Amino acid sequence: MANNLLKGKRGIIFGALNEQSIAWKVAQRAHEEGATFVLTNAPIAMRMGEINELAKQTGSEVIPADATSVEDLENLISKSMEILGGKLDFILHSIGMSVNVRKGRHYTNENYDWTMKGLDVSALSFHKVMQISKKMDAVNDWGSIIALTYIAAQKVFPDYNDMADNKSYLESIARSFGYHYGVDNNVRVNTISQSPTMTTAGSGVKGFNEFINYAEQMSPLGNASAMACADYCMVMFSDLTRYVTMQNLYHDGGFSNTGVTQSVIEKFGK
Ligand SMILES: NC(=O)c1ccc[n+]([C@@H]2O[C@H](COP(=O)([O-])OP(=O)(O)OC[C@H]3O[C@@H](n4cnc5c(N)ncnc54)[C@H](O)[C@@H]3O)[C@@H](O)[C@H]2O)c1
Repeated sequence: MANNLLKGKRGIIFGALNEQSIAWKVAQRAHEEGATFVLTNAPIAMRMGEINELAKQTGSEVIPADATSVEDLENLISKSMEILGGKLDFILHSIGMSVNVRKGRHYTNENYDWTMKGLDVSALSFHKVMQISKKMDAVNDWGSIIALTYIAAQKVFPDYNDMADNKSYLESIARSFGYHYGVDNNVRVNTISQSPTMTTAGSGVKGFNEFINYAEQMSPLGNASAMACADYCMVMFSDLTRYVTMQNLYHDGGFSNTGVTQSVIEKFGK
């Protein structure tokens, strides 16, 4: 269902790895809503070449960038403005990675080099994207910047490991940068806290299958899908949400405000 919500808007979408990626769905929906954008991902993630298929579908160009590299980000943002023919109206940061999670390292036994790497990729990269785009004056007034996060920033989910800390930092950056970007440039910055979703990053977390079923039962509306998240991003990138900024927005079927559901409590009645 297209409503021309992003007609004439230009953007950059980080993090479309394959068809499961939340960013992939955001790109498809943004295309339907009339936006033009550049797709980007880490050079290493391009080896599969799947992003080229998405680029073809959406008439987009792909610019590789490691989101931890200031140089790559400067190149990405300046080339994107050239390709798109003007300043940006939206940016999606859909990036997450923990080496400790990947290598099965327990939270109480972190390898701190890996911790720092994950923090840089998953959180600090968001600051870098905004610091560079602000210095380059690359975002139009009333532009909208979103990063994706998870409720492990507020509540403990043990197997989420150091990604919980990364997400807390990410959400704090959204608030702090959102203040300055708002005052100086009328740009809004938010995080969307998404339900567990079956993607490459998601399924890297130990016990994810069980967990996704638990969250489904604990959410009055059920888990929100990647496509539903993309729909929410459309509204947040549109002009209909111009005064929403510095918020962590739950997109989780009600999970965050639910203590228990009937279907979960019944499992303990036996
Ligand atoms: N899947 C879930 O359950 C879930 C729930 C809430 C939030 N999120 C968040 O959504 C976002 C997108 O994840 P996803 O679930 O779509 O998984 P995904 O694996 O499809 O996307 C993660 C992306 O991060 C990219 N990335 C990793 N290192 C990078 C780097 N150095 N530079 C640039 N890009 C890099 C990967 O290439 C990949 O495209 C992440 O922030 C994730 O934490 C996911």
